[in-house]
Amino acid sequence: MTKIIKPIEWLGDRLKILDQTELPLHEIYLELTGYTEIVSAIKELKVRGAPLIGVAAAYGIALGAHCIKANDRDTFLKQLAVICGAFACSRPTAVNLFYAINIMKQAIPGNAAVSEIKTALVNTAVLIHRQEEQAMSRLSKIGAQLIVDGSTVLTHCNTGQLATGVAYGTALGVIKAAAEQGKKIHVYVDETRPLLQGARLTAWELSRLNIPATLITDNMAGYYMHQHEIDCVIVGADRIAANGDTANKIGTYSLAVLSRENHIPFYVAAPLSSIDLSIKSGAAIPIEERNQDEVLRIKGMRLAPPNMPAANPAFDVTPNKYIQAIITEKGIIRTPFKGNFITILQEGH
Ligand code: MRU
Repeated sequence: MTKIIKPIEWLGDRLKILDQTELPLHEIYLELTGYTEIVSAIKELKVRGAPLIGVAAAYGIALGAHCIKANDRDTFLKQLAVICGAFACSRPTAVNLFYAINIMKQAIPGNAAVSEIKTALVNTAVLIHRQEEQAMSRLSKIGAQLIVDGSTVLTHCNTGQLATGVAYGTALGVIKAAAEQGKKIHVYVDETRPLLQGARLTAWELSRLNIPATLITDNMAGYYMHQHEIDCVIVGADRIAANGDTANKIGTYSLAVLSRENHIPFYVAAPLSSIDLSIKSGAAIPIEERNQDEVLRIKGMRLAPPNMPAANPAFDVTPNKYIQAIITEKGIIRTPFKGNFITILQEGH
């Protein structure tokens, strides 16, 4: 039987995480005892993937609150605001982070004593984690309807258990659910330069699930689409604007354009917590620029000549016109996205 992956686990007074930077070669778990360690783990991609970043931040805020020594409410709340601010500065693109921080702030009971606030924050973090679990499980099963038996699916980055911290995922959750329904599928996995989340993490998850897969470099995707080898493309999302424009791992936009050119359906799978109605279009989504060393080096080894600069935007935005459907835990949303998002969100989370 496949060992269950637990990318994140709350241990009451510390947070246990699976260090994703060491996968697939080493399965190393870290026990983080202070909120600053969790902020660093998010920045360094030890925990990563939009939903998991939100869950980690929620537990991080609960842990930070637990460690505050002050007993008077005002001092405590000031220190808590600093902690929330540190998480808000960790990664800018995934809206799930800000969604989780807001829910944690809203969970602070008015006039309650410090000890009660600490308990409420832990309970809320656990609840956010559970809600993600339910959302991912539902959206995976809903999305599996779109996967045709016998088809070949291309995916990008890592969107499975490692990216969500729960049994299913977003795009990879849909693939897993389709396989569980008995559909024979084959997955083409983009390696996902520069940090190789596809080659290191998605390939690892798929082989543990015994789902047949082939690893390709990102620039092979067009070739296989043109050869009629790919039946659909499915990816996750870090932030979806009100009009459906979707930020996801760098390289997603190219896949969407190639899909249109080759008449291949392009799907986004994401929980409602990834939709940001406060942002009208993708133009306003903040794109994280990461350290150029991630492009210049692989595992510390420099590939480019000295003094060669590199660019490293971690995400790109796919315009809504390329997206066939967005799969959520409340159903499959098609264009016009804006009106349909509002309808679905009004039904409540
Ligand atoms: O930089 P990462 O590894 O956090 O990027 C992850 C992605 O881009 C995923 O596709 C996205 O978060 C959706 S995951 C469920």
